[in-house]
Amino acid sequence: MGSPIAVIGAGYVGLTTAACFAHLGHKVTCADVVEAKVDSLQRGEIPIYEVGLEELVRAGMDNGNLSFVLGSEMAVRDAEFVYLCVPTPQAAEGSADLRYLTAAAKQIGPYLQSGTVVVNKSTVPVGSTLLVEGALGRSDTPVVSNPEFLREGSAVNDFLQPDRVVIGSDDQAAADRVASLYVDCGAPIMVTDPASAETCKFAANAFLATKLSFTNAIAAVCEAVGADVNGVLLGMGYDHRIGHEFLRPGPGWGGSCFPKDSKAIISIAEDAGYDFALMRGVIQANDEQFDRIVRKVESVTSLDGATVGVLGIAFKAGTDDTRESPAIEVMKRLLAKGAMVKAYDPAVTSLNLDGVDVVDNAYAACEGASAIVVATEWDEFTSLDFDRVSDLVAERNMIDARNLLDRDALKRRGFTYQGVGRS
Ligand code: UDX
Repeated sequence: MGSPIAVIGAGYVGLTTAACFAHLGHKVTCADVVEAKVDSLQRGEIPIYEVGLEELVRAGMDNGNLSFVLGSEMAVRDAEFVYLCVPTPQAAEGSADLRYLTAAAKQIGPYLQSGTVVVNKSTVPVGSTLLVEGALGRSDTPVVSNPEFLREGSAVNDFLQPDRVVIGSDDQAAADRVASLYVDCGAPIMVTDPASAETCKFAANAFLATKLSFTNAIAAVCEAVGADVNGVLLGMGYDHRIGHEFLRPGPGWGGSCFPKDSKAIISIAEDAGYDFALMRGVIQANDEQFDRIVRKVESVTSLDGATVGVLGIAFKAGTDDTRESPAIEVMKRLLAKGAMVKAYDPAVTSLNLDGVDVVDNAYAACEGASAIVVATEWDEFTSLDFDRVSDLVAERNMIDARNLLDRDALKRRGFTYQGVGRS
């Protein structure tokens, strides 16, 4: 028998959480404050691009397990669990802005039944469980931390088949109740104290970002010494302590989580008296990676007045999300050096960046270009007709920032080719 669950916030995390819990058989009411969003969700239309999510939302609505409402009051009245999935954007100094979280908690406090477990799924600084408890103004509704580890593009899968479920609570009974929601996921469920659960989320993302900055630094070393990064990473990855995953070099890392969380953990540590210098280095290396890609373009063509074709705008393939996208960081730097950019992305149709012309196919982005930069690893770029591309460009220069393309096929067509960590 499913439990009545309210999910506050219908963004990436909230919508995925709501649809997946409905799929697992719970009765879910998902609330948002944006009327237009709730209207479209009530019609079964989802406002984001996420593999498998729309199907789950529709199935949940069809079988009566999932509904959407405007405002949280209606959603929480009968709920046994309330999941807080509101945004925690970055404040000016790198810390998280908890305005939405406290507002949501304040709003629902008076309407909760006694014993309802309030679950914090938003990424929040250490100590936020206490903050939510305070904002609820209740002593009979335990607050539990249950951070998400969802990747965009595979969020549904990551929710239903997680590597682990982390639950943070000082109230064992409340933690056990939250754990029971995940029994069908077949993953290890770990119960710890709230501060450890909250820190775990930041630590996991900070570590992954570190792994990527390290990978990109090794790619730079490979370029300097004439090694091929693919061989190096393969050889490293066979060591099971390192593993093969998350070792793909690229134009730098981005997205809605890594940049925000890596800055936040520095700020959290600083507030508590620890200087997380290593993490500052990780962020700096990422910034330098954007510059390194631009330098590769500059090494083959003069940028002032040149047209550069950029393939990919999203921060990674499989999403239309452009938040903190490395592709955009690279474009900004190209523009600053006087280049004009023609960009194409299969999932992104507009971009508010002066000097960037977003076109509707890859060939249009290549037309008249003095160099092409592959910035996002979309599969469709591998099957372009490169004879046609050769005829369209002004100069045959390929900067493959995702090591995606067939280097030899391009060289045969007279392209200069620069990957990341391989030439
Ligand atoms: C990330 C975490 O993976 C997820 O657990 C967390 O909860 C949210 O943040 P997401 O931002 O969706 O997920 O993307 P992810 O797939 O982790 O990629 C982040 C960035 O790293 C992207 O810019 C991606 O292109 C880059 N990346 C990833 C690499 O450059 N190489 C890799 O091997 C993997």
